[in-house]
Amino acid sequence: MQTVSQIAQLRTIVRQWRQQGLTVGFVPTMGNLHQGHISLVNEAHKHADKVVASIFVNPMQFGANEDIDNYPRTLADDQQKLVDANCDLLFTPTPEIIYPKGLDNQTYVEVPDVSAGYCGESRPGHFRGVATVVCKLFNLVQPDVACFGLKDYQQVQVIQTMVEDLSIPIDIIPVATMREASGLAMSSRNNYLTEQQKVTAAQLSQTLNWLAEQLNNGQIVKGSYDALLEQASEKINATGMKTDYIHIANARTLAPATPDDHKLVILAAAHCGKARLIDNLQVELNGAN
Ligand code: PAF
Repeated sequence: MQTVSQIAQLRTIVRQWRQQGLTVGFVPTMGNLHQGHISLVNEAHKHADKVVASIFVNPMQFGANEDIDNYPRTLADDQQKLVDANCDLLFTPTPEIIYPKGLDNQTYVEVPDVSAGYCGESRPGHFRGVATVVCKLFNLVQPDVACFGLKDYQQVQVIQTMVEDLSIPIDIIPVATMREASGLAMSSRNNYLTEQQKVTAAQLSQTLNWLAEQLNNGQIVKGSYDALLEQASEKINATGMKTDYIHIANARTLAPATPDDHKLVILAAAHCGKARLIDNLQVELNGAN
């Protein structure tokens, strides 16, 4: 695997592959890789001849109160994991390469509606930063397909919408969340948790499973989810975590679920120690519900 940080190097290598008629898959990351990221690389290999990963801790998607300087940077470890996963090329640009004019003078991509609620509300500007950097990385790598983890469910919808709205010719492949045996969704943020907090954090996914069971048991009037969500929020708070939000939404538009919606997603975020964790669960109501 080659590691390059310059745009010209990246373009040269990808151009050579293109001249050989090879297809390209892309896995954008912010590094500190875990098994969830590697599953994205494995998935990309199924859809393309060559796989490019990027590691870029994107300043545009961090809020003023979020500590980008302490975001874990583990390049040597990450490179080894990518080599083991047969990744072909790693792109590691600096902020100066991605944003040569600085953040304030950079053109940006704003995806309406799907960016608005949930993490978009808790982290103003976050999805603008994500959409802008992903759009830019797409233009640099020009892949055929790109893989994103469903742990960041709202992010996947934002990127899918951006690709549709801007006619970007890249297939977005959502990849199932990798979980610890406890059910805890794998995330770089889990590194901020103590062993005891990891046990507590697993109860976030357990609460989502409980909610899904309630939705599936047919006792809940469709669309009338407020009391249930209140109970779920209390369950999370009772563990010592602090619920940021928990909502039931239309799985594609992310608008609050109505009685007409059958494909739903439960979206949740909670603070556990120093970490803000997110998780989600898709639920398909059958006709009887
Ligand atoms: O999911 C992430 O790691 C980031 O949001 C992404 C997609 C790499 C953009 O910076």
